[in-house]
Amino acid sequence: MGNQSHLIETIGPDLHVAAIMDGNGRWATSRGLERTAGHAAGEDAITAIVTAAERYRVAELSLFAFSTENWNRPVAEVEFLMRFNGRLIDRHGQDYHDRNIRVRYLGEREAIPDDVRRKIGWIEELTGANSGLKLNFAFNHGGRAELATAVRSIVREAPDPSDITESTIQAHLQFSDIPDVDLLIRTSGEYRISNFMLWRLAYAELVFLDVYWPDFRDEHLAEALRIYETRTRRFGEISPEPHLAIAAAVGDQG
Ligand code: FPP
Repeated sequence: MGNQSHLIETIGPDLHVAAIMDGNGRWATSRGLERTAGHAAGEDAITAIVTAAERYRVAELSLFAFSTENWNRPVAEVEFLMRFNGRLIDRHGQDYHDRNIRVRYLGEREAIPDDVRRKIGWIEELTGANSGLKLNFAFNHGGRAELATAVRSIVREAPDPSDITESTIQAHLQFSDIPDVDLLIRTSGEYRISNFMLWRLAYAELVFLDVYWPDFRDEHLAEALRIYETRTRRFGEISPEPHLAIAAAVGDQG
């Protein structure tokens, strides 16, 4: 799998990695199991990516745990996902805090069952001042819904339309300090964004991995980071700035 210590040395200090945790259902049905067993098996993959993100000194990690469109899945699966995500907080919340991880939930709260919403409030409060990995769960999140909420909030302030800039929109997002995504990983061999963090994905590098989410481990994050290192990010400009990590790796100061 190549030299992973190289990654630890070269990943920049501000990297925001996001992941669409796809393939749980197919992982389960290929084993003759209920789809929900695939979600349950995805818990170990979350543990793995969080630990790997700390190891490779990723600054911010955002995981897509439930979309605004996922309410259209069978009721039993929706109920499972709500309860399951609440139990993830029970099982890992204190450990995240002990590891200095700051946890946030990105998404509309109102439709979430009360007990799960309370757990979200608890973990955000407990870990809010932590300075280690910034871990965001996108839960009842939709990129379009997030923008619509921001627009409603701007309109309530009745600004002069000519004063509305991109910064205005950023400032009215639920968490205005969550930065743009640098690297988006989607597992399971599907090549879609599926309404995930649309605003912040504007210039993300996209990496699609042929692994079902429950099988995702440290080496898959390492693989995605290695692919990311080979990309040249131009942000619409003509002359490419060498990627910071590559420049550091080859000792290029120019
Ligand atoms: C994209 O796929 C959206 C997601 C993958 C977010 C929902 C994630 C889960 C239900 C799994 C969560 C896993 C754990 C372990 C908590 P989509 O199927 O909603 O969109 P698509 O129809 O475009 O593929």
